Amino acid sequence: MSLQLERTDVLIIGSGLAAVTVALHVPDTYRVLLVTKGCVTEANSDLAQGGMASAYLEPTSETHIRDTLAASKWTAQLERVRLLAEAGREAIQEMEQFGVVFDREDEQYALGREGAHSTSRIFHVGGDETGRHIMATLRDRLPGHVHVMEHVLIDRLLEHDGRVVGATGFTREARLQIEAGAVVLATGGIGGLLDWTSNCRTVTGDGLVLAQRVGAALKNITDLQFHPTLLASGTPELVTEALRGAGATLVDEAGRHVMAHHPLGSLAPRDDVAAVLTAHRGHVYLETSQVARMTERFPKLTATCQARQIDLALIPVRPGLHFQMGGIAVDEDGRTSVDGLYAVGEVADTGVHGKNRLASNSLLECWVFGKRVASALELKHGISDADGGTAYDVTDEVFQSFRRQIGKWLTISPAIDEIRSFLENTHQLTRTKHVTRQLAEQTLQLEAARLLALAFLELEGLDEQDVTARTAHGVFA
Ligand code: SIN
Repeated sequence: MSLQLERTDVLIIGSGLAAVTVALHVPDTYRVLLVTKGCVTEANSDLAQGGMASAYLEPTSETHIRDTLAASKWTAQLERVRLLAEAGREAIQEMEQFGVVFDREDEQYALGREGAHSTSRIFHVGGDETGRHIMATLRDRLPGHVHVMEHVLIDRLLEHDGRVVGATGFTREARLQIEAGAVVLATGGIGGLLDWTSNCRTVTGDGLVLAQRVGAALKNITDLQFHPTLLASGTPELVTEALRGAGATLVDEAGRHVMAHHPLGSLAPRDDVAAVLTAHRGHVYLETSQVARMTERFPKLTATCQARQIDLALIPVRPGLHFQMGGIAVDEDGRTSVDGLYAVGEVADTGVHGKNRLASNSLLECWVFGKRVASALELKHGISDADGGTAYDVTDEVFQSFRRQIGKWLTISPAIDEIRSFLENTHQLTRTKHVTRQLAEQTLQLEAARLLALAFLELEGLDEQDVTARTAHGVFA
């Protein structure tokens, strides 16, 4: 395989809103290379439906701050939340300056409402296709000094003198080595490790693994959010919480309101709703008779339901993996604990979400912290001797069986026995120096799952040494 060499000032890994926000705000004297594993549109940001929260039209950001803290059960960091909500007041106008057109009704912003928000403050575009529209507009505005490469798998970060100075990877044809003055990880969370997720399948925890391998600190990676309402018929897909904000209620097969006991009803915080729905025996539906102008406000959902012959009045839903609150530990400007390495978006733990993210705060986080990262970047070039590295020597069949095993423990109540067994089985894998793109990609996924599994074990006061051969059982089971 041939070797392709690239040199840039800033390497951004990822193509969602966090990556694009950094790219849009980096000084134009810098050369920027933005690489992404699939097509640029294969990012969770493109799938965002409900919208972006902002206190733009409120007298202050205090209520947004309080709602964010309350949804997190007071586990989010006040100062970071304040920073998010305050800067978030400017975000709407700033995005408009880049050409984003938020939905309006009678010349006023058409604001949505979602769980645990005490008021309507969700700005959206194209009804429930906010992410797709925002991303198309902003990507179109990427300036000439930003070069984009699709289908690039980054498998290792390069180091020199304790600093990250680039990365290695694969294009579809060649081995790739990139020298960079600074590297920004914007690779998203880990949802794609599971089939039952609202996430893009390409979002599989690569950034966590890349960062951890160079010694960057990770935080709270077991803090995962399950969205209560993925479409329960056919391929899982998000059914936006904004539908409940518009009047839909969660009902059981007999039409009883399943969140009736909660003071906020169907608009209770996500973790509460997801827990109730997971424990519920039998099917749950979104009953939409109270939703006005359903097809106009939720065109994506309407089209999906029609294509799948689902009754729009009673939409079957069930919870699924949606968001990782924890991630790479960063300061308020996205600096990780390793020089030259920055992280932003879902891969980073900025402290703004605590143990349960408030709905529609994630696009806002990408914008606010993406801008901060772009201003904080410090460049320093260095040459690192890249060796080829190693990868797990797994056949596709074995890899697929590991994915199935991950699906058994990565649930709303992680199954410790399955975790132990997964760790034991993966611990026994051998490694090869003949690293192909496919092996590198599978290795990143298995290592991301191992990081999570170990973190769950640690919550139980255990570590990998406590996992003995006796716990292993057939990975092909
Ligand atoms: C939704 O539209 O329900 C998802 C929005 C979010 O995850 O913040």
